[in-house]
Amino acid sequence: PLSISQDESYILVVGGLGFIGSHTTLELLKEGYNVVVVDNLSNSYREVIDRVEFLASEYWQQNQKPRRTLKFHEADYKSPVMRSIISSYMTPAHLSIDGNQTCKIKGVIHFAAYKSVEESISQPIPYYLNNVCGMVNFLQLLQENGIQNFVFSSSATIYGTKANEGVALREEMCVHEPTTYTNSEGNQVTQEPGVFGLTSPYGRTKWMCEAILFDVAKSDPTWNITALRYFNPVGCHSSGLLGEDPRQKPTNLVPVVVRVLTGSKDQLEVFGTDYDTPDGTAVRDYIHVTDLARGHIAALAAAAKGRIKEPFRAFNLGSGRGYTVKEVVASLEKASSKKIPVVETGRRPGDVGFCIAGTDRAATELEWKTEKTLDECTVDVWNFTTNKTAKPGLV
Ligand code: NAD
Ligand code: WQD
Repeated sequence: PLSISQDESYILVVGGLGFIGSHTTLELLKEGYNVVVVDNLSNSYREVIDRVEFLASEYWQQNQKPRRTLKFHEADYKSPVMRSIISSYMTPAHLSIDGNQTCKIKGVIHFAAYKSVEESISQPIPYYLNNVCGMVNFLQLLQENGIQNFVFSSSATIYGTKANEGVALREEMCVHEPTTYTNSEGNQVTQEPGVFGLTSPYGRTKWMCEAILFDVAKSDPTWNITALRYFNPVGCHSSGLLGEDPRQKPTNLVPVVVRVLTGSKDQLEVFGTDYDTPDGTAVRDYIHVTDLARGHIAALAAAAKGRIKEPFRAFNLGSGRGYTVKEVVASLEKASSKKIPVVETGRRPGDVGFCIAGTDRAATELEWKTEKTLDECTVDVWNFTTNKTAKPGLV
């Protein structure tokens, strides 16, 4: 078949207008990829595509880089229209020596999912339909079209109660076939596959999707599948033009604090002050969304260069550094120069006290690590928040 030059190929980003997807689309364009975004706007806004294009154009101009193509299709990734969208990226048959068409889409990053832990408990069916059934049908469509490079948005949530063991979480602690490895004490341990105290349907959708992807890759090793287990993504683009702006009411710490800072909420409830941590509040590994976005590009590049040896491979994307809830609040107070009223309450059901990424695998195989600090995250979040207030035209 006719080989397609890099300039003519695309990365398909499903859910590409959301918080992490929009930042990743921008980094892809900056890195020289052409991008097709599919999003049904269920938790994002159409304007985001213009902002991504604006920021990319600014970057290309300033750095004298060639322009790239950004296409947007408003569609549900579960709908039959996906078939015609993919078909529209096929090379014409008459240009192929053997008459076979190939798809210009060379890789997929799959962000499209519902993500509220709370909502998934009260409405599990839409979560399983969108996150699990949707992905299975989508994989079939990709396979039919010879698209076998797939990056999946997984989550640290799949480690479940393993997080409470108080050590950095390693990928081997959540696997899909029995795996033997050397633990932090130098002992050989065998990890059996399983879900570890996962308390929400949302978390289970992520585990199930990983298990499905593992099976698909095992059955056909020509797939390149990476599951990226995000720790706690925060921050936003430093321009203040892209950020976390969901249609749904947020439940994550940083966007909830932002609601308090902007007066939409009276005070922050701090869930739990009796954890075994320096100040009693829970510790998380917060990662700037731009670092996270770069992690996806690192995954595509590592797969293309053959640095990932297995057809399915999971990677933690985190900093390896933890902060307590109180430290996050202090950082946001500094960034906004405002006092944040807090009330200390009991633990939130299902929460773990400690969740930090082991970072070795991503450092070695993806040649990726985080660069930005928590203070940089909170400064960027506050910049986005004030920008939105100053320019009501912004989403
Ligand atoms: P988000 O809600 O901001 O982005 C998801 C995007 O997908 C939205 O733009 C939404 O409109 C779109 N979408 C949802 N269902 C769709 C469908 N059926 N068809 C087309 N588009 C659809 O969420 P996010 O924070 O950017 O998260 C992206 C991914 O990362 C999700 O899979 C999420 O589960 C995962 N993840 C997020 C976090 C986090 O804390 N934000 C942590 C770990 C994993
Ligand atoms: C962080 C800390 C809370 C809100 C969740 C999902 C996980 C992943 C990321 C997608 C915890 C505390 C929070 C508040 C608080 N998402 N907190 N008051 O719980 O680590 O992970 O988002 O995959 O699946 O479970 O993140 O930001 O909700 O909470 O005290 O109003 O802040 O108890 O200790 P979490 P979070």
